[in-house]
Amino acid sequence: MTTIDEIQKRRTFAIISHPDAGKTTMTEKLLYFGGAIRDAGTVKGKKTGKFATSDWMEIEKQRGISVTSSVMQFDYRGNRINILDTPGHQDFSEDTYRTLMAVDSAVMIVDAAKGIEAQTLKLFKVCRMRGIPIFTFINKLDRQGKEPLELMEEIEEVLEIESYAMNWPIGMGKEFLGIYDRYNNRIEQFRTEEQDRFLEIDEEGNLVQDHPMKATSYYQQALEDIQLLSEAGNDFDVERVKKGELTPVFFGSALTNFGVQTFLETYLDFAPKPQPRMTADGEIVDPATNEFAGFIFKIQANMNPAHRDRIAFVRIVSGEFNRGMNITLARTGKSFKVTSSTQFLADDRETVESAVAGDIIGLYDVGNYQIGDTVVGGKKAFEFEKLPQFTPELFMKVTAKNVMKSKHFHKGILQLVQEGAIQYYKTLHTEDVILGAVGQLQFEVFEHRMKNEYNVEVRMEPIGSKVARWIENEEDVKESMTSPRSMLVRDRYDRYVFLFENDFAMRWFQDKYEHMKLYNLL
Ligand code: G4P
Repeated sequence: MTTIDEIQKRRTFAIISHPDAGKTTMTEKLLYFGGAIRDAGTVKGKKTGKFATSDWMEIEKQRGISVTSSVMQFDYRGNRINILDTPGHQDFSEDTYRTLMAVDSAVMIVDAAKGIEAQTLKLFKVCRMRGIPIFTFINKLDRQGKEPLELMEEIEEVLEIESYAMNWPIGMGKEFLGIYDRYNNRIEQFRTEEQDRFLEIDEEGNLVQDHPMKATSYYQQALEDIQLLSEAGNDFDVERVKKGELTPVFFGSALTNFGVQTFLETYLDFAPKPQPRMTADGEIVDPATNEFAGFIFKIQANMNPAHRDRIAFVRIVSGEFNRGMNITLARTGKSFKVTSSTQFLADDRETVESAVAGDIIGLYDVGNYQIGDTVVGGKKAFEFEKLPQFTPELFMKVTAKNVMKSKHFHKGILQLVQEGAIQYYKTLHTEDVILGAVGQLQFEVFEHRMKNEYNVEVRMEPIGSKVARWIENEEDVKESMTSPRSMLVRDRYDRYVFLFENDFAMRWFQDKYEHMKLYNLL
């Protein structure tokens, strides 16, 4: 098979959801269909006592949640699928957002009883900003939840995306009979043996065969709803799905393994293959016609306590990667031979010999890489467009408990900042270190890692949530503009940043200094 054929087979997506919506359960079922795990139940460590792929770090184990994103790969009907997991906890971090930079589509799991919750909103915005297709799976239909029409409305209103129901539930909870599959023109029955599971639908949209289901009010209701959707709902439009303007919606129950395979197969009919990316100079890098190139979207340390290592996760944008090849780190211009690279599977890491555009590989790192770095295999080094930085909302002043440890303290901070684990700021004259994060958990991970990896105990002093704004006209910044409600600091690139106490303080500042052009990152 040629490299181009291999690339065409790739489908790379992230699963996003609220905690407890069923992401882990869904991932397990998908891996199970792909034959990557023998039993559903091995991904999640919480219950079985085995540690899951996504439970590498001690802190994750302690809190029973997944802090960092992991990558899983499996084959299904001629496709090679890469799933990038994202933390769903409310304390999730910038890592989650950056993971969305490395995929070509996203699958969102929604709990039918809860609907759209707050955090999904931001994840959604990041998907929208990138214009990547979003597929929605409404889960837990085996339990009583919100009305399906209400859920569709919520998706459209809250997420500002149009929706198209690919299938529709017939009943719910104890009365869940199955799904009316509009896409495949069939009804899939809940809790029914494989061979009897599917019932055919005629051209008018009715069940062909006589079946007790026909007499139920749930079936009648489903037909009415579908009628309504056909008349008043959106049309299915592949082009709009591709642009992320319309989300195909599926219903099912991951736990009972219902609707998951149908989802997977339909998803694969529409999921985009590896997409081109832009360079910093605005050139398009096509996956198939270019040599190996990729970018680092995540760096993770100590994934396995047995190996004290850092791994840089590379999304391959174009061409083919082979172990032993020479690659150049575009930022420094340094070239080196890659002898050990890893790829991620459900149950273990293994060495990867080759990988192509769409795949994610992990490169062992001894501190050479930074988030956003481009690596290229060809002679011409170039850089991909910058990964977005996210505006932190929480800030802490941090010092080493023991002043003698200052060197380790700064080394640790530098490395963790390069990894993108946390954002770094310093005050103007005293150069006090202030850390910024989008989620509280980033601070806990920071503290934990400083102690465990750099042997430094830190003192963290919350300075609360702030509204951070960068300044376009930096030359006009004056220290007299600061106040207890508008603190002036510098970021890791030495840019000025105002940390306002709240929106009110920011507006007050803006009224007073109208000529100052403030902006925020994502
Ligand atoms: P997450 O990764 O999104 O956080 O969710 P996870 O898969 O861990 O699922 C959260 C809870 O929801 C789990 O129960 C899981 O068994 C349940 N669940 C997932 N899918 C379905 C479904 O289709 N129907 C029903 N009824 N439940 C579902 P738990 O009791 O919180 O966890 P556990 O102790 O069973 O692992």
